[in-house]
Amino acid sequence: MKSETLPDPQHVIEQVAHKVRQLLEHDASGHDWWHIERVRHVALQLAQKEGADAFVVELAALLHDIGDWKNQTDGQDRGAELSRVWLEEFGLSPETVQHVADIIEGISFKGAGVATEMPTLEGKCVQDADRLDAIGAIGIGRAFAFGGSRGRPMHDPEVKPELHQSFEDYKRKSGATLNHFTEKLLLLKERMQTPSGRVWAEQRHQFTEEFYNRFLAEWDSRDMA
Ligand code: ADP
Ligand code: NI
Repeated sequence: MKSETLPDPQHVIEQVAHKVRQLLEHDASGHDWWHIERVRHVALQLAQKEGADAFVVELAALLHDIGDWKNQTDGQDRGAELSRVWLEEFGLSPETVQHVADIIEGISFKGAGVATEMPTLEGKCVQDADRLDAIGAIGIGRAFAFGGSRGRPMHDPEVKPELHQSFEDYKRKSGATLNHFTEKLLLLKERMQTPSGRVWAEQRHQFTEEFYNRFLAEWDSRDMA
């Protein structure tokens, strides 16, 4: 009779981390390995504070960006699908595989500016951690690195929203990185889903806001009054 052996969680985590690192090592779109590593550690801290399942949280954090559309040539996000294939190979329970894949599917969905909220506590921890990495000193660094990788200017003072037909038109024509602050980064604090994530975001938000205001003050030489 074939004996059922449960996979060792630590072994699974190490193997998954190794595969993700190989895949994302050279990414310059803001999803490099160190983004994953930071999200992993913040998500685990949130999981501990919130009482979430640390194994599911760590797996989902490691896998959350493997299929990001910005890295794909065909525009399709295959993150959830790919995660399911990888995790099934380790013999994890179908429930665990499904839970992790659902989190990745939810995080990847970015259509029409709709903020997808996570149904499970584990998903909320991973999504909060991902959002926390988009604000604060690191988030600011990532935004300018992303803009640079697309050849975008930091700021374009001549582009005014009211001169364009629609907000979509404005976004398409300007594309300066500083716009990303008002479009997304400064709104993330309100979208945190766990109490500890909200507290954490508060400090990073304040720093981001201060940076934004100082950037514009220096741009207009208003900082040396
Ligand atoms: P996430 O890791 O949260 O899935 P995204 O895929 O939305 O993030 O973006 C990756 C990084 O690039 C984030 O730090 C994000 O703030 C930044 N970024 C995304 N779009 C823009 C943009 N239009 N301008 C500047 N930075 C951007
Ligand atoms: Ni991410």
